[in-house]
Amino acid sequence: MSNVILEYTSPKLEGEVVVPGDKSISHRSIIFGSISHGLTKVSNFLDGEDCLRTIDAFRDMGVQIEKRGNTVLVDGKGLEGLKKPEKELDFGNSGTTTRLMLGLLSGLPFETTIFGDASLSKRPMDRVVNPLREMGAVIEGKQEGNYVPITIKGGALKGITYRLPVKSAQVKSAILLAGLLAEGETVVYEDTETRNHTEVMLQAFGADIKQYEDGIMISNKGKLTACDVEVPGDISSAAFFLVAGAIVPGSTVTLRNVGLNESRTGILDVFKQMGAAITISNERITGGEKIGDLTVKHTTLKGTTIEGDVIPRLIDEIPILALLATQAEGKTVIKDAEELKVKETDRIQAVCDNLQALGANITPTEDGMVIEGPTKLAGGTISSYMDHRIAMMGVIAALVTEKPVEMDEKDSINISYPTFFKDLEAVLK
Ligand code: S3P
Repeated sequence: MSNVILEYTSPKLEGEVVVPGDKSISHRSIIFGSISHGLTKVSNFLDGEDCLRTIDAFRDMGVQIEKRGNTVLVDGKGLEGLKKPEKELDFGNSGTTTRLMLGLLSGLPFETTIFGDASLSKRPMDRVVNPLREMGAVIEGKQEGNYVPITIKGGALKGITYRLPVKSAQVKSAILLAGLLAEGETVVYEDTETRNHTEVMLQAFGADIKQYEDGIMISNKGKLTACDVEVPGDISSAAFFLVAGAIVPGSTVTLRNVGLNESRTGILDVFKQMGAAITISNERITGGEKIGDLTVKHTTLKGTTIEGDVIPRLIDEIPILALLATQAEGKTVIKDAEELKVKETDRIQAVCDNLQALGANITPTEDGMVIEGPTKLAGGTISSYMDHRIAMMGVIAALVTEKPVEMDEKDSINISYPTFFKDLEAVLK
């Protein structure tokens, strides 16, 4: 781990960025490709470390996966083609791999042990383990299976009806994956819509899945068949450039081919509320997902309240939205976002500590934060907390500080955006 000095004198963003593939869809393309029959071709796969963990897991279970740059060929032999891995599965930093695989491994006829890095080892798994145990899963691990390392003794499962107690697409997806292997129907209800990529993609792969207004039913009756996936650009990665364009004077930047699935576009609603100059063009549908180009220009912004049903639609964008709020006029209140405490790090604390260190007026609350703006940020020393999104927020903050920002490392960015610095350099004028 080595310190990085971020110093940008009179920066301005101009030009275009083609942001890399969506992390959530990239994970799922490998999972669904691996458990279906036939050759799935994935284009624009995200080469981030988290998604590579998912590829490794399925290779360890005997699936042939060939990677040619950002194109991945997955030779699925169906659920029954998966073999017991010869070693314990290392999921690194990846919460998505861990929670989704817990669902799948629960119903497969072998025993697997999974583990991860220091951050993953602190993230709660009971939200997934509890419903899976209701389905009959046999799961053991640290603190009654709430933390990895966890051992899953896969076997027969039965369908359940479950109302999500947390607003989490990972939990929903884990139960749906287990539902693919369970006897009878599995129904998951959610009070607030979370990202729906699992449902959309499972339908395309041929699962027996039905969507109701607030719930999803799945059974083991469908025959999963290979389906090519064109991964849209990740709006959660685009977010860093959207905010940079909005807060750096003189900027105009266009993000190409960004995924605009409604369950992910909360940031666009907030931009509009704050008066940002953002336009959407070239909207189209690829592989069942809406995509388009986003152009943002610097302008004066006003504070807002971000709460309720929009939170799951922008949960990963809150760190960078907090930075945006430091540059807006008036008060911004972020509420109902207690989930931030159990991300790669406690993001309420990490965001507030870092932005305070740079001179912002920001106060943490139990379920979010309150920011008063606008503040000319001074600069100073921050930590990435080894969290990719906290690190990228630090870099974008350095574009508007008077003095340099010193951060303890930058390699964590490779988790979701390995080409982040290259893309940033290309639009910095
Ligand atoms: C994800 C769901 C979200 C999100 C994460 C990816 C997914 O997590 O924060 O980055 O791919 O399903 P939660 O389900 O814990 O909210």
